[in-house]
Amino acid sequence: MVSLQLTLLAALLLGGHTAQAVQEPIFFHLIQISYFVNQSWTQHQGSGWLGDIQTHGWDNETGTIIFLRAWSKGNFSDEELIDIELLLRVYFIGLTREAQDYASQLHFKYPFEVQVVIGCELHSSGIAKGYLQAAYQGSDFLNFQNMSWVPSSKSDSRAQSVCDLLNQYEAIKETVHRLSTNTCFRFALGLLDAGKVDLQKQVKPEAWLSSSASPAPGRLLLVCHVSGFYPKPVWVMWMRGEKEQLGTQRSDVLPHADGTWYLRVTLDVATREVAGLYCRVKHSSLGGQDLVLYWGHQLSMYLILLAVILPLILLIVIALWFKKRCSYQDIP
Ligand SMILES: *[C@@H]1O[C@H](CO)[C@@H](O)[C@H](O)[C@H]1NC(C)=O
Ligand SMILES: *[C@@H]1O[C@H](CO)[C@@H](O)[C@H](O)[C@H]1NC(C)=O
Ligand SMILES: *[C@@H]1O[C@H](CO)[C@@H](O)[C@H](O)[C@H]1NC(C)=O
Ligand SMILES: *[C@@H]1O[C@H](CO)[C@@H](O)[C@H](O)[C@H]1NC(C)=O
Repeated sequence: MVSLQLTLLAALLLGGHTAQAVQEPIFFHLIQISYFVNQSWTQHQGSGWLGDIQTHGWDNETGTIIFLRAWSKGNFSDEELIDIELLLRVYFIGLTREAQDYASQLHFKYPFEVQVVIGCELHSSGIAKGYLQAAYQGSDFLNFQNMSWVPSSKSDSRAQSVCDLLNQYEAIKETVHRLSTNTCFRFALGLLDAGKVDLQKQVKPEAWLSSSASPAPGRLLLVCHVSGFYPKPVWVMWMRGEKEQLGTQRSDVLPHADGTWYLRVTLDVATREVAGLYCRVKHSSLGGQDLVLYWGHQLSMYLILLAVILPLILLIVIALWFKKRCSYQDIP
């Protein structure tokens, strides 16, 4: 069933010019970051993500879901969403209490931070799977696999203790399983459909070049900035002729506040070898018309200026010289 719907959605979303509009696999997940500052002060941050787009937030004070997009409810009824909200509220209150009760017993020292991601992954091949992973102080701690809690390979004996504790509760296991599979699959598919206009949008990148001194003398760090594009997949390369420059370094793709993306791509090169280098940008919004920015063009702009200004100066000098000569000749 999921497979059939995915095939239909894939045809809908991945068809035509928007081949890269939705990244594969599609995933939806909730991210929880909890700060346990001391015995009495806890704060939970929650967010929902469809791929790289944030769709939901969580208000810790009121214990309610924040719907960030017009389509953030997907096709779920208000009743089902209220049930989920209630479940999350009970979970956060329970977690706060359990953490306070067990912190000293399990040697969790305040302040500490817990991160949890729960969600599902859908492939257009029809493969779909749910997952839950938790981290303590930024390191993998435990995950939920095959209906049971398992400590991460790098975690310590505390993770085993927490898993032993959690594994006693069948109802929690069933709830986590249901949320990360059936509920997540249905919700993600409904969201994809409801948000397709936003998800299929195409925003063209702007690109510009700059340079900075490389640490080594006689070398230059060329920087190609690509900014304001959507969706996220982008190909940027420093090239000479048809040859990709192997020294090209890519930064992380960073988000702008408006949901578009930014990236910088650098090349460390000997100053005398910069001529003929250019930065090429491929993006789905460009419809096959790659952006091409020659480093040399900036140079030739100076040359053009020089070519205009030099003769001008020369002319002025000659004119002045003639004027002077004429005025000498005027003297009898
Ligand atoms: C716990 O942390 C909060 C926030 O930093 C602080 O205001 C509060 O006084 C602390 N309480 C105790 C008992 O240390
Ligand atoms: C956050 O939520 C938890 C659980 O509902 C609650 O105990 C805590 O006081 C809240 N923290 C803040 C800062 O509102
Ligand atoms: C999951 O559990 C079932 C039955 O307990 C077992 O047959 C299967 O091999 C397990 N799968 C994984 C990936 O551990
Ligand atoms: C929402 O859409 C999905 C995918 O089309 C479907 O499986 C589901 O039954 C729909 N409704 C609800 C309430 O989940």
